[in-house]
Amino acid sequence: MEKYVIQGGSRLHGEVSISGAKNAAVAILPATILCNEPCLIENIPNISDVSTIMKILSELGAKITVINKNTIEIDPSNVHRTEVPYEKARQMRGSYYFLGALLGRFHHSKVSLPGGCDLGVRPIDQHIKCFKALGAHASVEFGMVELSAGKLEGAHIYFDVSTVGGTINAMLASALAEGQTIIENAAKEPHVVDLANFLNSMGADIMGAGTDVIKVRGVKRLHGASYSIIPDQIEAGTYMIAAAATRGDILIKNIIPKHLECITSKLDKIGVTIMEYDDSIRVMGDKPFVKANVKAIPYPGFPTDMQPQISTLLCLAEGTSIVTESIFDNRFRYVDELRRLGANISVDSRTAVIEGISKFTAAPVKATDLRAGAALVIAALSAEGVTEIEDIHHIERGYENIEGKLRALGADIKKLIIPDSVLDQAL
Ligand code: EPU
Repeated sequence: MEKYVIQGGSRLHGEVSISGAKNAAVAILPATILCNEPCLIENIPNISDVSTIMKILSELGAKITVINKNTIEIDPSNVHRTEVPYEKARQMRGSYYFLGALLGRFHHSKVSLPGGCDLGVRPIDQHIKCFKALGAHASVEFGMVELSAGKLEGAHIYFDVSTVGGTINAMLASALAEGQTIIENAAKEPHVVDLANFLNSMGADIMGAGTDVIKVRGVKRLHGASYSIIPDQIEAGTYMIAAAATRGDILIKNIIPKHLECITSKLDKIGVTIMEYDDSIRVMGDKPFVKANVKAIPYPGFPTDMQPQISTLLCLAEGTSIVTESIFDNRFRYVDELRRLGANISVDSRTAVIEGISKFTAAPVKATDLRAGAALVIAALSAEGVTEIEDIHHIERGYENIEGKLRALGADIKKLIIPDSVLDQAL
């Protein structure tokens, strides 16, 4: 068992560099399969979701050469398998990008229904609708989604909901299809644009990514490319809030300020001091925090992946704040754990009402998912006393070296690894 032990109360100070975006990496790495030449990918975050994708690529037959910690060459020329091993695929959400990528290149793919954070019901009906529109036959049996097509032909796809995964899969499956595909009500998140940019650097013809209509003109083949993944908007936002909550003063480097606008403007309203530079941002928690209302909506709105972290900060703001989640059914599971640390939050369906408290107080807690875990880390850093956070594997799925980065900012955080044999003896 592994857990973080955090002595709260240290103000974060100094500099932190943001890693590549998880949700771009888990799309771009499977996309390399669409060509049969080596691709060099830089700024890959060193996180467990990426390791899982690498293992899948390798089991499919790709040759992976590690150039350094964050740069990898992937040679997919020997990929011939089109079925992703069940156990690997179900560990994470992004594994469903192998459905679109393998279908696009080989006209066949078989991947288990995806895993990922438990945020309520997460159907993939829109992905299936899109694959079918492109000419694929789709079946779901024994937990596996299987797609096959004689040929893929461009189509008009209208998504009933704005879906990041559906939009990315639509681009993956249509890049090599015959004719033009139009994706309407497309998701506009930065990682959607990053994937489109990567595919275009491989020779694809994709226009409009970042707007709600994307046009993909199918091309005959894609070639290898070198590409650097964008910085992680959510990792940056998490450090912004950690700095504010600990009354710290930090410089966050390697960011794209434009991607953070929705977070920056909300933090400014709450009373956090922010100074923006070209590719960095300084955040200071030097004023009292005031209540705010936040609604998590698709980009360019406030991201659902920052909802638990900002709710944590609002616990420390004077007055009553209201936070509404509009993307997922059940993204307030962390509230019970936050209550153990003293939060005063009531939840009714997709709305949380947060009454400000003067401080968090330490207690043993468990991360219920990735961003919930990040929220608990933030609360623990600012809490009085020593907080122990269990189930940190959720956090390590998405934050590169969070413990080391926080320690370098002056936090008192340790990772405890308790061997199973010791646990067995204790029971
Ligand atoms: N939806 C459907 N049908 C579909 C697809 C989605 O009804 O076929 C619904 C979902 O249930 C949800 C909404 O549409 O209510 C949006 O889901 P979306 O498809 O956009 O989310 P996702 O692709 O499953 C990605 C990120 C999530 C992030 C969301 C929203 C990856 C691997 N995951 O999930 O990231 O919260 O977009 O921005 O990119 C995280 O990083 O912590 C995380 C959960």
